[in-house]
Amino acid sequence: MIHVKEQQWIWETLEKLTGKMEQVAQRSAHKIPYTTVQGVHDDRTGMISWWTNGFWGGMMWQLYQLTGKEFYRSIAEEVEEKLDKNLLDYLGLDHDNGFKWLPTAVADYRFTQNPASKNRGLLAAGNLAGRYNAKGRFIRAWNDWPHEVENKSGWAIIDCMMNLPLLYWASEEIKDPRFAQIASAHAETVAKNFVREDGSVAHIVEFDPENGGKVRSHGGQGYADGSSWTRGQGWGIYGFVLSYLHTKNELFLQTAKKIADYFISNIPDNGLIPVDFHQPGDVKWEDSSAAAIASCGLIELAKLLDEPLQKKYLDAGLKLLKTLSDHRCNWNADEDDILLKCTAAYHDEEHEFSMIYGDYFFLEALLKLTEKERFLW
Ligand code: GLY
Repeated sequence: MIHVKEQQWIWETLEKLTGKMEQVAQRSAHKIPYTTVQGVHDDRTGMISWWTNGFWGGMMWQLYQLTGKEFYRSIAEEVEEKLDKNLLDYLGLDHDNGFKWLPTAVADYRFTQNPASKNRGLLAAGNLAGRYNAKGRFIRAWNDWPHEVENKSGWAIIDCMMNLPLLYWASEEIKDPRFAQIASAHAETVAKNFVREDGSVAHIVEFDPENGGKVRSHGGQGYADGSSWTRGQGWGIYGFVLSYLHTKNELFLQTAKKIADYFISNIPDNGLIPVDFHQPGDVKWEDSSAAAIASCGLIELAKLLDEPLQKKYLDAGLKLLKTLSDHRCNWNADEDDILLKCTAAYHDEEHEFSMIYGDYFFLEALLKLTEKERFLW
């Protein structure tokens, strides 16, 4: 499926990445990074419920798989153990249990059959299943925090599609379909209520938590209600592909294709992905993480399809990765960040910085093009 010339580029890029990561991992061995400050990783160990805290461990498992070097594995194990504090804190848990425990405990269990890791994964899955609203057939996204007036018990978000594989895994692991039923019901709700006619997706949809009816959508981390937050489009592509892989429900494959087609037709000529496809023309903020996540979804989608669609999605995924590698990667091994110009949310005060999940999905996308991926989802 992949041309020899492309193979060469993939392995050269992976070599650059692993060469750099060997030094970065030594420097950040006892941290759980989210971003960098002047090229140095921060440490979210003191904010243990932060939603991105699984990605550093996930990177370490991927690098362990790729290189066989034991120190990557021990760093991943350290993150997994630190996350136990979060697992015991009910209000510190939300729908992001998948992002936290699939790349850590479940990855560990898949590698080593460690019973403690399996236990962590199942506890996280049980808690995620407990967020299900049976009337609306959706998983509640976030909690209400004391300083907020809004009640978010009816809020579901597109990102949650990436957390569903924790439920599919739990069902398989304990031979009980309940978890997968919840995941599948949530995915059907999202296909029906988030995905617009043109293939774009809303970030947040609010349902009435009592009767389950749709109330409205919200712009969330994108520019505005009705706009197209690019990372959300990426979560949509990859998330629906993953639900298809676990269920073989054709609706999920068709939905992934629909969002993918929308995404591809909106990629700017320079290949650099804005924060929102509908942001005002004079706003140039980018989100490289959206490109990396979409690329993972596109490559995985290509693997499921025959020509000419296979080539269409693979080429689009590869092009996004090459643009990132040529223009948005920091290859200086003395600095900890890899992917530059990632943006958490359009309306935040700060834009365009490094984010650990940008780095994670960039690495994962490259590995998908080899036989070396540790499939976490
Ligand atoms: N899951 C939150 C985000 O994508 O920023």
